[in-house]
Amino acid sequence: KRKVIIDCDPGIDDSLALVLALKSQKLDVVGITIVCGNVPAKQGVENALKALEICDALHVPVYFGEENPLKRDLVTAQDTHGEDGLGECFFKKVEGGIVKFGAVDFIIDTLKNNKDVSIIALGPLTNIAKALVKDKRAFENLDEFISMGGSYRSHGNCSPVAEFNYWVDPHGADYVYKNLEKSIHMVGLDVTRKIVLTPNILQLIERLGGVIAEYIVDITKFYVDFHWKQEGIIGCVINDPLAVAYFMDRSLCDGFSSYVQVVEEGIAMGQSIVDVEDFWNKPHNAVVLNQVDSTKFMQMFLETLFPQSKK
Ligand code: BDR
Ligand code: CA
Repeated sequence: KRKVIIDCDPGIDDSLALVLALKSQKLDVVGITIVCGNVPAKQGVENALKALEICDALHVPVYFGEENPLKRDLVTAQDTHGEDGLGECFFKKVEGGIVKFGAVDFIIDTLKNNKDVSIIALGPLTNIAKALVKDKRAFENLDEFISMGGSYRSHGNCSPVAEFNYWVDPHGADYVYKNLEKSIHMVGLDVTRKIVLTPNILQLIERLGGVIAEYIVDITKFYVDFHWKQEGIIGCVINDPLAVAYFMDRSLCDGFSSYVQVVEEGIAMGQSIVDVEDFWNKPHNAVVLNQVDSTKFMQMFLETLFPQSKK
């Protein structure tokens, strides 16, 4: 099993990504670190515990992380994910679980003590930037780094050019791209927008039944309504599970190596500029994904979550 830390801001699609990772036989989730983003970090912790409970995995520790972006004030996405971040299901507080403070130190210590841990970041890159500032050397041990964020040729979802995670903390994102010294797998909107839970798939999930099915159907209702009202999309785009799935199976996405820089301020704040033609002649710091096999993703998603449902 591959060891991973999942850094996230759950969030409906983060929660689906957590469930996918926890249910996968290929991954060993050594910890979940929470960052502010879709919801304040405190709410994110509660929502991560809910995903753990649903997956019978309350032994996985959850670490409370940064409550504010590096320089900007926090702007949440509660209009998209609901006031509670889980589609306004307002679940009862989860009993039990392991919650600790110090996401940044957990990331550093885990990397120092292991040479085979990867990080999948599904929210703003604040925790990661802070950990890098504090102990860059610990990252020499990092296996792989996957970031759901940014966009290459796709338009933004917070401004004409910026994707939410990089827009919420553009300084954090910029810092990580400039300082990680490891190729960042950028799972941006070009590929994640193609991952849609359609009403048909949601009906199938409902028929497959069980606790996970019920949870998915419940938390996505608000999200489906939002997508229809806001963008005229039938169903809901689930960005974050693709980053986990891609980590599990490289053949789901294709892309290219490039230099990426995130715009920190001004009209293009949060934009990920991909220097595809090497105008700047900078060493490549990213693998930018621009192609995805969405059918294959959906098969993997359903097979992992509902292993008994297929012959
Ligand atoms: C990203 O923003 C958040 O709302 C989602 O959880 C995802 O990580 C997509 O832009
Ligand atoms: Ca997220």
